[in-house]
Amino acid sequence: MEGKTRLCVVVVVVMLAAAGKGVRGQLIDYKAWLGEEPLTPQRIVNDVVEYFSVRDPHGIPVMNVPEPIYIPGTVPASQITFYDPYISGHSGLRLEYVNVNLTSLSAKGKLSLPHFNLNGGYKWPGPWSNSEGHANITMTGIEMTLDLFFGISDVGLLTVEPKMDLEYEDLKLNFTGLTYTHSFVVGAAKTFFSTVIEPIIFSNVQTKVKSLVNQRIEERLQNLTFPDSISPVDFALAKIRMDLRETLEPVKLDDQEMHLTWGVTVQVQNIELAGVTTIHRTHEVSAQFIDNVVYVTIQLGTQTLKGGADWFLSASLLPAVGGHLSLEIESLAVTVEAQQPANIRSPPTLRKIDIKLGNLAVRSDGDGTFDYLVEAMLNILPNCFRNQIMDKVEPVIHQKVQKEFNKFDVYRMVMDKLAERQQQQQQMEASA
Ligand SMILES: *[C@@H]1O[C@H](CO)[C@@H](O)[C@H](O)[C@H]1NC(C)=O
Ligand SMILES: *[C@@H]1O[C@H](CO)[C@@H](O)[C@H](O)[C@H]1NC(C)=O
Ligand SMILES: *[C@@H]1O[C@H](CO)[C@@H](O)[C@H](O)[C@H]1NC(C)=O
Ligand SMILES: *[C@@H]1O[C@H](CO)[C@@H](O)[C@H](O)[C@H]1NC(C)=O
Repeated sequence: MEGKTRLCVVVVVVMLAAAGKGVRGQLIDYKAWLGEEPLTPQRIVNDVVEYFSVRDPHGIPVMNVPEPIYIPGTVPASQITFYDPYISGHSGLRLEYVNVNLTSLSAKGKLSLPHFNLNGGYKWPGPWSNSEGHANITMTGIEMTLDLFFGISDVGLLTVEPKMDLEYEDLKLNFTGLTYTHSFVVGAAKTFFSTVIEPIIFSNVQTKVKSLVNQRIEERLQNLTFPDSISPVDFALAKIRMDLRETLEPVKLDDQEMHLTWGVTVQVQNIELAGVTTIHRTHEVSAQFIDNVVYVTIQLGTQTLKGGADWFLSASLLPAVGGHLSLEIESLAVTVEAQQPANIRSPPTLRKIDIKLGNLAVRSDGDGTFDYLVEAMLNILPNCFRNQIMDKVEPVIHQKVQKEFNKFDVYRMVMDKLAERQQQQQQMEASA
């Protein structure tokens, strides 16, 4: 969540910076937009949560930007220089969606702006004479998409290549004092867009986004290198696998005791399961941000799982029997779909959990008839009814997971993490 809103803030700041490129800092009172309170990460999170808690969030989060913005001074934009312009429309800015696809290692975001206006004096140098006067530029139905493609550079670092696209419904231009040459450019709004507006977006904004995002990645990953033959998600999972292997292999489960009818009691002890740490990505790992909700899809699986357990069966009228069972599950694949409201004070919801088990094979170590019977029963029945059994088990798991989710306080977790990082920073500064 944090990453997505940060992307949004980065885009907005870059847009403003590009619009006001060359504007000397003291001309616009950016500080006033940020308010009195210091701009701490905690405040940004709170403001962004607040921003996305309303039904139709729009405008610029965190900052209190006046509408219109008045920029006393000169604003160079491509070939034209504007004087003392008023800029308005940004309060209609809306984040339409963000898609992060870790499978294809790409991200896509879309911002919309119903209306944008720039109004002010201008100067436009021409081949023979200059145009000079008053300009009124109005653009409506603006949609900006930002595609980020991640890749591994030849030195093994994660890098990003942004691609921006700007579309609009209508562009109205009213310039006074145009020369003959320039009036042609302004007369055809499309030409004006491609010669004046597009260069601002594509040369300034695109390169700024690129350097900003790449710089962030570098700070975050601290020169961590990736092999270029494997996607970073799979590489990260490989690292997790190695960590898990040391702490979690094999998994030991609690002893179970079941009381059946007719006074039959089944005890299962020393349950062990190996292979859980062969976990890997089977299909998709992605996240979408639409309508104030983050939707996450994760598809993971394991290779062969091997388990074992001792079992005892006792009944009042029969002699107790028991033995050791070994279990082999060919594969396990899990698809999880969850959603988290952008208002992170609400817990996540599990939308769907789908578990697919591969073939089961059970072997009993005993050699009595009973062992043979148990082995046959467990080999035939679960394989025939595997899907039916999983259909019964899934709702139970769903409920259990949701119960755990309900205990999540994402807001608290983010705040604690920020506080922790701040403390580390302070300690580092103190020891430096
Ligand atoms: C993510 O990328 C993969 C591979 O390109 C594709 O199959 C999948 O549909 C994408 N998912 C989303 C949600 O866009
Ligand atoms: C600028 O143009 C728009 C639409 O063409 C118009 O609605 C607006 O009033 C104009 N503003 C000024 C200051 O002339
Ligand atoms: C353009 O703006 C000028 C004043 O800035 C105004 O007199 C004129 O009517 C406007 N033209 C159109 C077509 O809106
Ligand atoms: C990453 O490597 C570059 C060049 O090797 C170096 O200048 C930079 O300080 C390193 N950054 C970090 C965070 O270690």
